[in-house]
Amino acid sequence: MRKKEFFEHMNDLHVAMTFDDVRLKTSYSEIMPDHVSTETKFSKNVPLKIPIVSAAMDTVTEHELAIELAKLGGIGIIHRNLNPEEQAFQVARVKNHLNGLIENPICVNEEESINDILEKRNRKGYGFHTFPVLDKEGKLIGILTENDFDLCDNFSLPAKEVMTAQLITSPLGTTLEEAYNIMTKTKKKVLPLVNNDEKISGMYVFSDVKRIKSESSQKYNIDARGQLRVGAAIGTGEDTLNRVKKLVKENIDVVVIDTAHGDSKPVIETLKMIKEKYPSLDVVTGNVSEPDSVRRLIEAGSDGVKIGQGPGSICTTRVIAGVGCPQVTAIYNCSLVADEYGIPICADGGLRFSGDITIAIGAGAHCIMLGSMLAGIEESPGEIVFWEGRQWKNYRGMGSIGAMQEHKGSRERYGQKDAGKEELIPEGVEGLVPYKGKLKDVIFQYVGGLKNGMGYVGASTINELREKADFMRLSVPGQAESHPHHVKITKESPNYSGA
Ligand code: XMP
Repeated sequence: MRKKEFFEHMNDLHVAMTFDDVRLKTSYSEIMPDHVSTETKFSKNVPLKIPIVSAAMDTVTEHELAIELAKLGGIGIIHRNLNPEEQAFQVARVKNHLNGLIENPICVNEEESINDILEKRNRKGYGFHTFPVLDKEGKLIGILTENDFDLCDNFSLPAKEVMTAQLITSPLGTTLEEAYNIMTKTKKKVLPLVNNDEKISGMYVFSDVKRIKSESSQKYNIDARGQLRVGAAIGTGEDTLNRVKKLVKENIDVVVIDTAHGDSKPVIETLKMIKEKYPSLDVVTGNVSEPDSVRRLIEAGSDGVKIGQGPGSICTTRVIAGVGCPQVTAIYNCSLVADEYGIPICADGGLRFSGDITIAIGAGAHCIMLGSMLAGIEESPGEIVFWEGRQWKNYRGMGSIGAMQEHKGSRERYGQKDAGKEELIPEGVEGLVPYKGKLKDVIFQYVGGLKNGMGYVGASTINELREKADFMRLSVPGQAESHPHHVKITKESPNYSGA
């Protein structure tokens, strides 16, 4: 209630606030940070084990980051400055990374040579070495395993002469648990599922089954098939359906209609078109910063809404176009409408410290999207750059001049798809962010900070944090006091690099 009064009062004064304007009040707590649950949702049917989503930007999210983030319980959104085939390929690499039940295993024909199979494996980027072998009628006759490839000394031999022919199979419908038991009992590392015509209809691989069952994988964000979850950004317009079709074929979990102005006709029309064709596919829309916009998008069928117009570290929308609501107020106002419908919102942009995650969720977000806080990690696209004796990585706005000149997707995101290269009005900048090392260490700090914050507030779940959070406004001296002051920092901290 007090949060409501605080924001209503500020709304009455027509004052909008962002992260540095506010802090959360501490409260009596029996909650230990180690015991909180960070489970939440990105969209109606896409859960998260940690409330972290990586930005759909070409210097942030491709398959490597998406794989690692899903393993840590979050989700990556593959950017759309890729043609539809390339983007679907990125998605496939995430989905195939950790297969529980492989529904459509990639099979080879008995006459194909080992050479040809290895060449195809390379070309298609398959990360695995297990291929069911089919005869001319499509019946399963054997399996090529990693051992078979390793022990083969003549790569011109056909698959049927190299494969393992003694198979243990199981009927369609075998669960992961049953598969684990059969495989441990029979000491077989591959378990093909076959239907009545001896045709293959699925396959389990022991390393994946074991990993999924193991303790660490309890943290993974996986779908019902046991595959890592991943999302992809898409644009607007008719040709979007072609992109979505390719993504759906790879079992994409959620698509994000990714624009700078989500409350617009093309977004709403595209959303309706996708929901009509793929009713069970989750579609998140954005970005918006006003509650009426959230209502329009949800009424049109949106399964999640992204909040944030201009808060991003590389964004210049606020100063170039003069629009956009400061982020904490935008999150709060938008969350009121989203909560009426039970639809999750994601706070996108402007976060710099782990404490901003606690504030964003306290204000009403279900999860947050990070660009600059993830662009400097090892798994983001691009090489490490050395400058002034330090390691950096490139980070650029999707609306920066470079991104817009190179990619139609970027031009479309900023409503300039038909503009010539000399006619572009950028809404972002290009720069460098410090190199931060591995994603798992970085996320450990971010989630650790959030959990500490939940402990201070006395919230054991994300929903409790949304309900219990109570805000106060900071004065300028209060802001200065929040950061280290009157001290020369002599040792870099893993979670603080200056204001
Ligand atoms: P952070 O602060 O995490 O923000 O780096 C990432 C988010 O910023 C948005 N984005 C842009 N916004 N111009 C903008 O106004 C741009 O060029 C731009 N590029 C990305 C996007 O929502 C991202 O998730």
